[in-house]
Amino acid sequence: MERIEIFKGDITTLKVDAIVNAANKTLLGGAGVDGAIHRVAGKELLAECHTLNGCNTGEAKITKAYNLPCKFVIHTVGPIWYGGKNFEEDLLTSCYKKSLELAVNNNIETIAFPNISTGVYGFPKNKAAVIAISEIKKFLCNNKSIKKIIFATFDEENFKIYQHNLA
Ligand code: APR
Repeated sequence: MERIEIFKGDITTLKVDAIVNAANKTLLGGAGVDGAIHRVAGKELLAECHTLNGCNTGEAKITKAYNLPCKFVIHTVGPIWYGGKNFEEDLLTSCYKKSLELAVNNNIETIAFPNISTGVYGFPKNKAAVIAISEIKKFLCNNKSIKKIIFATFDEENFKIYQHNLA
């Protein structure tokens, strides 16, 4: 638990090794946290994303971070919520798993996640946070290389949800 933190604010300001982007399958930017990350990183991030040939839901790809204060951006594509009968929970679980795998393979020691899929993609915030916390705890039990995982919550609602579920 000491390796897990909650941060209230904009994920693009964090000086961690990597921040995770809640992207879409094109990886070519969008609104929400995707928009914020591309805005701060600058057009070189988009240029690198153009070379990645998109990303499937539940998968993750890594890029440099350019004008962001972090070193890497891990782009993952969360599921759109259609009511819970389209394997949304499994796909969201996969986003966390694949992002953490990429982090380990790139010697990343500190990483921040937004509440993936809970904005534009409509995934229920509390259910998503429970999945995120459960995956992160499972991962930290078996992995010593990552020193800190931060849940970056942009709004009060998410902040309270993570506080409640981590208590
Ligand atoms: N820092 C941290 N969290 C943020 C920020 C930010 N700057 N901006 C938004 N968030 C939070 C939202 O409050 C939400 O809880 O990130 C969470 C994810 O919301 P979205 O960014 O809307 O992402 P998602 O629901 O996964 O939808 C992805 O939206 O922006 C487009 O291109 C993106 O098509 C993709 C879709």
